[in-house]
Amino acid sequence: MVRELTDSFGRKIENLRISVTDRCNFRCRYCMPEEGMTWLDHRELLTYEEIVRITRVLADLGVRRVRLTGGEPLMRKELPTLVAGLAGIAGLGDIALTTNGFFLAEQAGDLARAGLRRINVSLDSLDRDTFEKMARRDYLERVLAGIDEALRAGLGPVKINAVLIRGVNDGEIERFANLARSSPIVVRFIEFMPIGSDDGWSNDRVITTAEVLKRLGELGFPTVGVTREDGQPADRYRFADGAGELGFISSVSAPFCDTCNRIRLTSDGHLRTCLFSTAETDLKGPLRAGAGTHEIRHIILKAVAAKEAGHLINRPGFVRPDRTMSSIGG
Ligand code: 5AD
Ligand code: SF4
Repeated sequence: MVRELTDSFGRKIENLRISVTDRCNFRCRYCMPEEGMTWLDHRELLTYEEIVRITRVLADLGVRRVRLTGGEPLMRKELPTLVAGLAGIAGLGDIALTTNGFFLAEQAGDLARAGLRRINVSLDSLDRDTFEKMARRDYLERVLAGIDEALRAGLGPVKINAVLIRGVNDGEIERFANLARSSPIVVRFIEFMPIGSDDGWSNDRVITTAEVLKRLGELGFPTVGVTREDGQPADRYRFADGAGELGFISSVSAPFCDTCNRIRLTSDGHLRTCLFSTAETDLKGPLRAGAGTHEIRHIILKAVAAKEAGHLINRPGFVRPDRTMSSIGG
């Protein structure tokens, strides 16, 4: 029996991103509109038992790391129950979470006790007004309190994901770099991608990694050195004097598709083999119709074999996915 998930390009799949809900209490401009979002009915969502079942099949096929995402994953009730369920799966080495940070102040302790190892907080601005402009919510202080609580709960080093958009928050590169230098926080700059349906994306609003590095040099930060771990999307930069760490995710200027080892499970139970997939594979239907482990494994192997070579941003033939980031799972 095949015990490994490898696609037709020889990429071995070890990373699974699980979206547990499409809902969110923020309205980040690049992700979703202020009004008019419709949410999945609760019956459409995979139950925690179903998520654990699918993940067990995947772990048996070689998946080693799981990240919970949304929407905002902490809006799903009793998420620590799911974390504990996943922590019980043999072979899974790592359970992480990507969150907007709003509920961390109250939930970080329970999540850590349930077996969560690491968190990433999506935080695009350290300035109250700019934060509100980007997330359409005045929640900066709460998010910062949440990060503190996560560090206290032992979930450090916390990673902050900041999507830089020209003319909006690109004036904060220095502030973010200083935060990374002065705390156990890794700041990762993510290039703005064309995903949301009405996100104001254009090529000239993307701040590339090269541009951030140039600005850091001009600002007088000690030269940074780079390492890239296998199968990781981020280039990791350490300052020359050893204080602090930055990450760069060059999804537009230098996509990591060639070494991409991830797949995604949407909140309504579909398998996506790429963030930019134009097709997905239903797992919930077969599961609810009584499919056994053998059958689910077969469906997964077939879907993964057809994993796309990569995305075509900035090239002819690019099509935006027809779901928002919040429903795909970031
Ligand atoms: N471009 C780049 N990153 C994005 N994210 C959401 N939408 C976009 C986009 N259009 C980020 C979120 C979060 C991560 C899961 O994806 O900010 O940190
Ligand atoms: Fe919510 Fe994340 Fe989308 Fe912002 S980017 S609206 S926090 S799901």
